[in-house]
Amino acid sequence: MQHIKNQSLVSFMVSNKEQAIQVTNPATGEVLGYAPISSEQAILDGIEQANVAQKAWAALPAKSRASMLNRWYQLLIENKEDLGRLMTLEQGKPLAEAQGEVLYGASFIEWFAEEAKRTYGETIPAPSGDKRLVTIKQPVGVACAITPWNFPIAMITRKAAPALAAGCSFIVKPAELTPLSAFAVAELAYQAGIPRQVLQVVLGESAPLVGGIFTSHPLIRKLSFTGSTQVGSVLMQQSAHDIKRTSMELGGNAPFIVFEDADIDAAVVGAMASKFRNAGQTCVCANRFYVHSKVYDEFVTKFDAAVQQLKVGNGLEEGVNIGPVISAAAKQNIQSLIDRAIEQGAQPVSELQRLDGLFMQPVVLKGVTHDMDIVSQEIFGPVAPVIAFNDDEQLIEMANDTIYGLASYFYSQNIHRVWKIAEALEYGMVGINEGMISTEVAPFGGVKQSGIGREGAKQGIDEYLDVKYLCFGGN
Ligand code: SIN
Repeated sequence: MQHIKNQSLVSFMVSNKEQAIQVTNPATGEVLGYAPISSEQAILDGIEQANVAQKAWAALPAKSRASMLNRWYQLLIENKEDLGRLMTLEQGKPLAEAQGEVLYGASFIEWFAEEAKRTYGETIPAPSGDKRLVTIKQPVGVACAITPWNFPIAMITRKAAPALAAGCSFIVKPAELTPLSAFAVAELAYQAGIPRQVLQVVLGESAPLVGGIFTSHPLIRKLSFTGSTQVGSVLMQQSAHDIKRTSMELGGNAPFIVFEDADIDAAVVGAMASKFRNAGQTCVCANRFYVHSKVYDEFVTKFDAAVQQLKVGNGLEEGVNIGPVISAAAKQNIQSLIDRAIEQGAQPVSELQRLDGLFMQPVVLKGVTHDMDIVSQEIFGPVAPVIAFNDDEQLIEMANDTIYGLASYFYSQNIHRVWKIAEALEYGMVGINEGMISTEVAPFGGVKQSGIGREGAKQGIDEYLDVKYLCFGGN
């Protein structure tokens, strides 16, 4: 691949198209290359090897695992430009955003390299004088993950880094649409000294086949998944058979609320950051805007003016803020949500242009009501439906009226309202006067059908650790 300076990053690519997945650039349709597929037997062998290697990996002092993770982190930083370019080519997000994701992805490795040394147990005051009670934390064993195409690096490192830090071995199946970044970051892990059996990237004949192996293999003790609620539910059901631990980071339907006492200019900045990151293709993207009727017109006018400044195009081009959406099916789904909303009475604030290929013009829709289809569906595209509201109680009912509970956002300058609303929103994460909430130092995750478990922060490593209670008698 001629665009990449450090050719070791793409050394995994194969020319045998029979046992490979063809990867294309969503901006141009051009074939980028072929990522290797493992046979079912090779995946099963890999799991056996991961199981053997995990024992030696866990036996290393935490400091040794931490220094390899630190080296891996450094290598991501050193290769930020190449990794960013590779990501833009296969995923479509603008280069600056892709490089931002490399840093975001690297931040989880740095964070969990530090946390590796802090997996403390406890001493517990015993109920009788002859006993001493303590807990220790131990790695769950072989952990595996299935990751999405929208964050081809960060969603892997957010799982791999805590797993490796905890002393687990880790096998990931990346999205078939964006495997190149996954193999490239794994290559850097090997260069950092992490053994190939301890960290594996696998693609199989099909996603359900790999999912089936991950959820049924007795040596796999943990599955972490980021993706749709529908697939997450199937994986949880399959994992229930032999009681595997699971972490699920699933769909969202984030409300973005602007109260009448909000700083409207700040709310517009937050709305842009929250809605249009990755062309609207994140689980935490604002999905529906509720704006108090007293400030509705002002917000809509200013928001749309900012949206009209966005430049849509190939993410490698200078100044582009919105790349293509990931696939023709995704585009069709987003377009039909827009069309249906318009049929139901919504109006685009500015003229809506239909673009070629996988590109979509970002649009603000006004005159939207809470009962429209676009409000209850996860849009996953550059569309911002804006609904008017009049009182806080009605607002909270509408904001919580969803099966999802991942991220939510609101803007208000009234401290009493801020606490009340923050507590009333049934979401795992709340941005208050802030549209960008993701960071490695805070627990990321949802409630309701948005998932189970937390990623990042001090909580993230517990997903890969078992607590063992030791009772010392006869003292
Ligand atoms: C996601 O869309 O699943 C992750 C978004 C983030 O980490 O901010």
